[in-house]
Amino acid sequence: MSDGVIVRPALPSDREAIVAFTHDTFEWGDYIADVFDEWLARDDTQVMVAVVDDVPIATGSARMLSPTEAWFHGARVHPDYRGRGIAADVSKDLRAWARDQGAVVGRLLIEEGNTPSIRHVEKTGRRRVATMVRCSKPVGDASPSPSGNGGRRVPSKLRARPASSTEAQAAFASWSVGELGRASRGLFGIGWAFRRLTIGDLAAAARGSAFWEIGAGWALASPTQEARLEVGWIETRSEDADDLLRSLIDLAIGSGSESIILWVPEIEWTVRAARRLGFETAKMHVYASAL
Ligand SMILES: CC(C)(COP(=O)(O)OP(=O)(O)OC[C@H]1O[C@@H](n2cnc3c(N)ncnc32)[C@H](O)[C@@H]1OP(=O)(O)O)[C@@H](O)C(=O)NCCC(=O)NCCS
Repeated sequence: MSDGVIVRPALPSDREAIVAFTHDTFEWGDYIADVFDEWLARDDTQVMVAVVDDVPIATGSARMLSPTEAWFHGARVHPDYRGRGIAADVSKDLRAWARDQGAVVGRLLIEEGNTPSIRHVEKTGRRRVATMVRCSKPVGDASPSPSGNGGRRVPSKLRARPASSTEAQAAFASWSVGELGRASRGLFGIGWAFRRLTIGDLAAAARGSAFWEIGAGWALASPTQEARLEVGWIETRSEDADDLLRSLIDLAIGSGSESIILWVPEIEWTVRAARRLGFETAKMHVYASAL
């Protein structure tokens, strides 16, 4: 532990000090101010702070995504205190909390090129287990006009139709032995987090109208309140990838969404298909460690 630094659970009164050193973390700003109160209020989440003279100078959070899987996110260290291993002090306490909750594995996501963060997690025993690509694209009225640089939209030959829970087993088996399941290491996306997919997840998604059959493939896709269609999982083969993605774009338009976000594991043909259809792509690494 660094000199004079104490790690403790965050309090509502820490908000101001945390926002003061996190409002411009990245070029685009930061999201910590928007989520701090909600994270503090959640039963499945622990927010920690490192303090000097009881003033927060670092923070980090853990969330239980399943009874045995923790997700770590929101690691931030005040710029004046970086390079002293303080993120490691915070993550040690977050891992202890997650273990107490029953977690046996903890994971996190780092964008390609975030060297300080990659150094921090590799020094603290986390291993890179998968590389996922976040694909995003405006659709419908928000997309470039056909006469502009967006080109003419080609509707899919395939049509997404709601899948039933009886298809969960076949979809899961196909994915598990296929390229996508292997490259994903069995993980699927929920917002910005990843955990192990189960047949039960697919069956539950079917009941929630979020499990789709598309030709010989499947997807988990649901619209958000922000008018985004979020696709956290797909199963397809390279020869069907373009049509499956096209039909998801059609689904996004049909659901009134203004954009579509899609997670795919980094495989040459998934990324090529996404780019061909006009998705912007950002590469992210999933790291994991036993707890
Ligand atoms: C990533 C972060 C949490 C690491 O915290 P930390 O307590 O500084 O971590 P460490 O002390 O272990 O340093 C990690 C790396 O940061 C870099 N670093 C060292 N001194 C630094 C400084 N003064 N300023 C910036 N980065 C520095 C080094 O690459 C170091 O690796 P090294 O020890 O092998 O040289 C912190 O840099 C941060 O808040 N970054 C902005 C937010 C962010 O990217 N969060 C993670 C999102 S996934």
